[in-house]
Amino acid sequence: MKISVIGAGNVGATAANVLALKNFAEEVVLLDIKEGVAEGKALDMMQTAKLLHLDTRVVGVTNDYSKTANSDIIAITSGMPRKPGMSRADLVGVNSKIVQSVMDAALEYSPEAIFLIISNPVDTLTYLALKNSKLPRHRVIGMSGLLDGSRFEYYLADAIGCPISDIDAMVIGAHGDLMVPLTRFASYKGIPVTEYLSPEKLQEIEHATQVGGGTITKLLGTSAWYAPGAVTATMAEAIAKNTHKTLSCIALLDGEYGEKDVCAGVPVVLGRNGIEKIVELPLNEREKDLFNKSVNSAKETNAKLKNL
Ligand code: APR
Repeated sequence: MKISVIGAGNVGATAANVLALKNFAEEVVLLDIKEGVAEGKALDMMQTAKLLHLDTRVVGVTNDYSKTANSDIIAITSGMPRKPGMSRADLVGVNSKIVQSVMDAALEYSPEAIFLIISNPVDTLTYLALKNSKLPRHRVIGMSGLLDGSRFEYYLADAIGCPISDIDAMVIGAHGDLMVPLTRFASYKGIPVTEYLSPEKLQEIEHATQVGGGTITKLLGTSAWYAPGAVTATMAEAIAKNTHKTLSCIALLDGEYGEKDVCAGVPVVLGRNGIEKIVELPLNEREKDLFNKSVNSAKETNAKLKNL
């Protein structure tokens, strides 16, 4: 199993590091446009290998796509992160060009790869990557729902006062402030969280989840990387190990949830072919309405692609 991570910044380097820690890939190639950065970070990671019992070989390269040849999975994290006060959609101009050029170069050397799109605005850039590459939808997958779900689970566990591993919760929709935390389906050891938390507290948690990325950006002056990096590695693991886990990921919708020709976060089954199946949840009218509103925000950002 060979995995390439494009962009050796905060998110890309963290993803490569978590991939190495997970120890299932033979090789992880980290590529960046900045001279020496990927090489330096890869070398640093390799020098933890003895201490942490890692067998994965992490290789860093400066813009040399031949080293990514025959990757099974390619995660694209290259691009600008948000600064405080920016929305993800504000990044569409600069990041659409980066993702497009990176995807073209990577695809030339790895025509069979499954692509994970991480750069923001991720729903729109996943859509762009699909349209541009003409790959089938099961091979181009955006990362956001699992990240937003992890944030949601953290806030729920914190409020209930239980281990996060006992919480199971999901977020769907576009990766923006209109994302939809599915509180009705969230559970603590199978028991609905509504049994433990008041409607007011749950509303507060939903909001904290929706602005979860912005909260971190305000604190750091740049966007988050530990959770986005870990989620990227987790998605790659589900594909590599063919686990068929159901994870919320960005997929091109073709009638599912009443939406067509747009990418948004929905539960999917991940396996060796990428998206093996899109799971349609039994949403109630309110949830459907929130989902469609959220998807409309992704459509608005997609429309900006035409003027770039
Ligand atoms: N090819 C390869 N690497 C590139 C390119 C390119 N064409 N353009 C930019 N990069 C690299 C930069 O050199 C930098 O090292 O992408 C890296 C981005 O790293 P950071 O600035 O640290 O950004 P990061 O926090 O990792 O976020 C990257 O992921 O979560 C999203 O919104 C976030 O769009 C952002 C992306």
